Amino acid sequence: MTIATEINTRLTTPAIAIRGITKSYRQGRREIQALRGLDLTVDQGEFVAIMGASGSGKSTLLHLCGGMDAADTGSIVVAGQNLTTMSERALTAYRRRTVGVIFQQFNLMPSLDVRENILLPAQLAGTCNATVLARMEELVEVLGLKDRVRHRPDALSGGEQQRVAIARALIMNPPVLLADEPTGNLDSLNAAIFWKLLRRVLETMPMTVLVVTHEPAAAAEAKRVVVLRDGQKTGEFNVEVGDDAGILATRYQALAS
Ligand SMILES: Nc1ncnc2c1ncn2[C@@H]1O[C@H](COP(=O)(O)OP(=O)(O)OP(=O)(O)O)[C@@H](O)[C@H]1O
Ligand SMILES: [Mg+2]
Repeated sequence: MTIATEINTRLTTPAIAIRGITKSYRQGRREIQALRGLDLTVDQGEFVAIMGASGSGKSTLLHLCGGMDAADTGSIVVAGQNLTTMSERALTAYRRRTVGVIFQQFNLMPSLDVRENILLPAQLAGTCNATVLARMEELVEVLGLKDRVRHRPDALSGGEQQRVAIARALIMNPPVLLADEPTGNLDSLNAAIFWKLLRRVLETMPMTVLVVTHEPAAAAEAKRVVVLRDGQKTGEFNVEVGDDAGILATRYQALAS
């Protein structure tokens, strides 16, 4: 393969390729089908929002993409890595290096300060080098956390805590960012700040983003919205420049119900 073809292949390979995944949970004698043969392709650098009613399988999908849980059947390939055939050891490396994850609960370590929380993934991966430290400086600057680096999480507002979570998710410069209702615990002002700052960070660190959200205003950040219902994809639409939350809510409702 020539270098040109190799570069082309790298650019045209989807960041996330999901084929026919199923996932069920057992609750006592009941079996709950959370995902029922879901297909999804996300291109490199794409920003996709996943929407759907409560229980439609959004978090399950995100957990599977994050290598935090395994699908029952089907295949998931993220950044060229097939999660369905990976060893536990490879999955640990995948979770540390290939995906950054932000949850609704900020999940910061209460005994560590902001700087230590951000650097934790690099410490765990054993790669707390000069590049990582420089990236941390850049992230705290862009995210407006510069005068907060020595604070512990309980001395920060919810908005600040979630901005620390952005920095922690991106400190390893992963090709893929996964977020599950990242503004679900923030008021509307802090939610707006979150999206503005994430957008700013992504300008200097381009990556593929998959965000689960209930809020049409958050979906406006995406290029494409994928709608789930009962563990399957029921449709999708592209977000055009100028589409506001009202327009997106109407398009979403048409697919969700
Ligand atoms: N660990 C689990 N054990 C049992 N059932 C589960 C588990 N996790 C999810 N489920 C069930 O699987 C289905 C899909 O759940 P999931 O959390 O993916 O939905 P969701 O779309 O993220 O919902 P929400 O918007 O409320 O967060 C639901 O019926 C849920 O009750
Ligand atoms: Mg959920």
